[in-house]
Amino acid sequence: MTKAREETHFGERTVPLSDKQGLVDEVFHSVARRYDLMNDLMSGGLHRAWKDALVVAVNPPRSDKPFALLDLAGGTGDVAFRAVEAGGAGTRVTVCDINNEMLSVGRELAQERGHDGAVTFEQGNAEELTYPDRSFDCVTIAFGIRNVPRINWALAEAFRVLRVGGRFLCLEFSSVDLPGLDKLYELYSFQVIPRVGEAVTGDREAYQYLVESIRKFPKPPAFAKMIETAGFRRVSFKTMTGGVVALHSGWKL
Ligand SMILES: C[S@@+](CC[C@H](N)C(=O)[O-])C[C@H]1O[C@@H](n2cnc3c(N)ncnc32)[C@H](O)[C@@H]1O
Repeated sequence: MTKAREETHFGERTVPLSDKQGLVDEVFHSVARRYDLMNDLMSGGLHRAWKDALVVAVNPPRSDKPFALLDLAGGTGDVAFRAVEAGGAGTRVTVCDINNEMLSVGRELAQERGHDGAVTFEQGNAEELTYPDRSFDCVTIAFGIRNVPRINWALAEAFRVLRVGGRFLCLEFSSVDLPGLDKLYELYSFQVIPRVGEAVTGDREAYQYLVESIRKFPKPPAFAKMIETAGFRRVSFKTMTGGVVALHSGWKL
């Protein structure tokens, strides 16, 4: 008798769970050098406001009080740089990402911007972190969780490495809930983004995957339940830009 294999989505395709990470890695390997430019083009610059809202929620101390933030799937360091700029001299950010190409771009940017003392870039899988229990004051993940094959593992790991009293914050694309805007968003996502992606990065499929993965991601209330199941308390979420993105929050109490 053959054993049933676990499956998941990769864009529109159903693939073995064990294949998803490799496929995701190819996507980010291919777009790494143009990743930040594409974010601006695709979101019309809005990703900056969404990330700023995330950093406001992180609320790093303005003083030199030590504050350790772990930014999971932190890619080229965009959230990390914003957090360091918002915080005081005690703010330190560890960017953990599975993709070395994204991390290399991040290291170069950190040096250019003078943030290399406060931000460190480490390769790692959000599903199996190597950090000790209770080692961070805050854990963030921005536009990363939908790429992780076993979301529940990543949430459990975020919970484990947070100190008691620490906060988990997740920024992710969501489902547009304003009548009219939903149709426009669908058209933009499926007709415009893959074309712009192809023009800028030469990789249309990567952007096709990115927009399709947004559609497959659980709706905010369902994702909030997953966060609760991982052990977080006082779980809440707010949507922004008519539901284009959702910011989820949970506390380790
Ligand atoms: C859309 S990018 C987001 C980057 C960054 N957080 C930002 O908002 O600009 C998604 C990132 O998730 C990373 N990623 C995918 N699977 C991962 C995993 N299992 N563990 C850690 N990072 C992962 C990718 O390498 C990529 O850098």
